[in-house]
Amino acid sequence: MPFLSSFIPEDSINDPVVTGVDNIFLMADTLAIKDSRTGKEYQIPIVDGTIRAADLRQIKTGDKDFGLETYDPGLVNTAVCKSKITYIDGDAGILRYRGYPIEELAEKKEYLEVAYLLVNGELPTKSQYEDWVHNITYHTMVHENVKKFFDGFHYDAHPMGMLVSSIAALSTFYPGAKQIFDENSRRLQIFRLIGKIPTLAAFAYRHSQGMSYIYPSNDLKYAANFLAMMYRPSWTTKYEPNPVLAKALDVLFVLHADHEQNCSTNAMRSVGSSHPDPYSAAAAATAALYGPLHGGANEEVVRMLEEIGSKEKIPEIISQVKSGKRLLMGFGHRVYKNYDPRARIIKKISEEVFAVTGRNPLLDIALELEKVALSDDYFIKRKLYPNVDFYSGLIYQAMGFPMDIFPVLFAIPRMSGWLSQWQEGLLDPDQKIVRPRQIYTGYPERHVPE
Ligand code: CMC
Repeated sequence: MPFLSSFIPEDSINDPVVTGVDNIFLMADTLAIKDSRTGKEYQIPIVDGTIRAADLRQIKTGDKDFGLETYDPGLVNTAVCKSKITYIDGDAGILRYRGYPIEELAEKKEYLEVAYLLVNGELPTKSQYEDWVHNITYHTMVHENVKKFFDGFHYDAHPMGMLVSSIAALSTFYPGAKQIFDENSRRLQIFRLIGKIPTLAAFAYRHSQGMSYIYPSNDLKYAANFLAMMYRPSWTTKYEPNPVLAKALDVLFVLHADHEQNCSTNAMRSVGSSHPDPYSAAAAATAALYGPLHGGANEEVVRMLEEIGSKEKIPEIISQVKSGKRLLMGFGHRVYKNYDPRARIIKKISEEVFAVTGRNPLLDIALELEKVALSDDYFIKRKLYPNVDFYSGLIYQAMGFPMDIFPVLFAIPRMSGWLSQWQEGLLDPDQKIVRPRQIYTGYPERHVPE
């Protein structure tokens, strides 16, 4: 069926007044829609397996009709952007950053190389990587006043709440960050945010422990430096994190660096679309990550496993899940309808971590829970598999991280993904301010009583 522009009612296809063009027809995949209200037929172009939602606006019953809209709470079937960054095939359990399989990146690359890949589109050359690492490393310090923000938090403040607030606070230290269309300024803020988030995260932890803050050690690698800021006693300047644990944490950072349009990334892009500085947008993304349905799930998994306590209690928990009384935390995913490839890698590296730390006793409960769930009809029918959070919490716990720091450990590496996606959105000429529509279900007009 011929068509010219992205939207032309079928009966107007050959009408030069409607099309504005005479005798030029393009062929493409189209979706034929017949509006039963008006009897009119339309050809909507299908591009990249999608139709443009705006094309539907022209389908009207009359002049007072705003046009057809789509209803998609949770954006379960709506592509909100075009992206070259991360590819997921949820049915096949495939995850790639810039085309590279996550398994290869986790095995062969360090987190900061992967962060470079996400932000810049290609793996760095040796000298590009040295510059990148240097720039990030020399932006790990925070202004002394930042410490005062932490001092102001209550002693039992959740580290994620402190992280959200302190990232937002950085916006006030760097007013130049508002120059979001200046490439050099953007680059500088990217160095700062990737460099400083481990420092803020460690400050949040130390504040919650009543411990003095430890400055970054720029002679250590990214993950090792974070471990040093977390655990180095304040009476010494020497601290060598266990290399196996530092390496495992670096791999976990690689696995968590990006995951296309998840809730927090969508928050980053959505807030970014109104053009604030990236600190403000990243604070919003961190807040989105905090929720137990997203980055907060790893904390909830360990709480759930502790509550289960023994394998004997698993059938009872499964039956609570099946009767809708609770969720099986760490299971299910909007996109993966197969085993989350990240969970597979985490399960593997957990062996290396437990060889150093001793086996986490909750692992046996987790393994049994997985076995029971994966052979139960409820989970099979709904394609519910373990996700990244199912095993990550167990490793973090074995490494000595307290539970409420788990989502913070997710936020640190996700910063590079957020920034890549934010930058891609900013530079996309199609990107408009995110402003969805609604179906109004409230009162019709009524009047305030006298
Ligand atoms: N336990 C029990 N039932 C579940 C679970 C679960 N964890 N997840 C989904 N279901 C059921 C759900 O009740 C629904 O059943 P029915 O068709 O009978 O109504 C069906 O499976 C489809 O679920 P959904 O809620 O439509 O799926 P969604 O794509 O909207 O939600 C999710 C995805 C991750 C929020 C959800 O699976 C969930 O809440 N999981 C537990 C929390 C969790 O582990 N989150 C981490 C996600 S991965 C990392 C990240 O994003 O941070």
